[in-house]
Amino acid sequence: MKEKLEHLSAEAERALSTAEDRNQLMQVRSQFLGRKGKLTLLIRQLGTLPEQERPLAGQLINQAKNSLADKIDHRLAAIKEKEENQQQETLDPTLPGRRLPRGSTHPVTHVNDEITGIFTAMGFQIAEGPEVELDFYNFEALNMPPDHPARDMHDTFYITEDVLLRTHTSPVQIRTMEKHKPPVSIIAPGRVYRRDSDISHTPMFHQIEGFMVGEDISFSHLKGVLTAFVHHMFGADCAIRFRPSFFPFTEPSAEIDIQCVICAGKGCRVCSGSGWLEILGSGMVHPAVFKMVGYDPEQVSGFAFGMGIERIAMLKYGIDDIRLFFENDVRFLDQF
Ligand code: PHE
Repeated sequence: MKEKLEHLSAEAERALSTAEDRNQLMQVRSQFLGRKGKLTLLIRQLGTLPEQERPLAGQLINQAKNSLADKIDHRLAAIKEKEENQQQETLDPTLPGRRLPRGSTHPVTHVNDEITGIFTAMGFQIAEGPEVELDFYNFEALNMPPDHPARDMHDTFYITEDVLLRTHTSPVQIRTMEKHKPPVSIIAPGRVYRRDSDISHTPMFHQIEGFMVGEDISFSHLKGVLTAFVHHMFGADCAIRFRPSFFPFTEPSAEIDIQCVICAGKGCRVCSGSGWLEILGSGMVHPAVFKMVGYDPEQVSGFAFGMGIERIAMLKYGIDDIRLFFENDVRFLDQF
């Protein structure tokens, strides 16, 4: 029996040393330790031994079984580790990485940057003012006293009777002129608020204000600067017209139309058949406004203008619903 055991152990040892992978190791395991394994069967033969020899023989067989099981486990662990290392080695570091989705600037930001870029290139400086504004700056100082009918078009959100969300960027004119002596030429982008909501109006939108004040600034300067702007923004051959208009804080006032970008002036649904699209309001700063900020209207003159950024973006990119700008649908935003 002892000899047989030694013989089997040696056989198992040899099988183990030639086993190269997981499968072969499992085979060795079942060959020797399985239910019908050679070592297992040896235990069954214990009964054939004289009784006093049985305990020792049983012990020896169990030792041999345990030692073999340990060795197999050991080899399995080694193989597992090797497999894992091999897996790492099969990584190809030259493969391009997975791309993260890339963001882009919001079209409103994009158009804002483009507009301010055109004006800063002409020498205008950027200024900002608060969105929560005093009635004084939003209305009174702009020649709109409390009962002025023009306030109707500028209904807004009131925080108190005197504090409101600004309805345009024009209050930045007042704040700037209060602080700085002429000459000044400023461009002032920012958010504005109105009680409005439909396909072409949102309660919050963006405007850019601009103004140039100094000695001898005339309506020709207004025409020259704004024509240059339109040509940069919409192309050098874009037709433009100045149409008389009214704002309480400018006199005379003009609205500027460009040739319809959809039908090129032939007349379509977008321009209501007129061939023209309004893009901004402008005019010569009213003497009453100069007096409000302590400028002498006999000494200085200037022009001002204001435009909606979303409106310019809609015309430039042929977008027909202003609300798209604020839904933040990535499929829309991705196109810019
Ligand atoms: N603030 C005016 C508006 O929002 C636009 C404007 C600005 C007109 C400056 C004339 C001069 O309607």
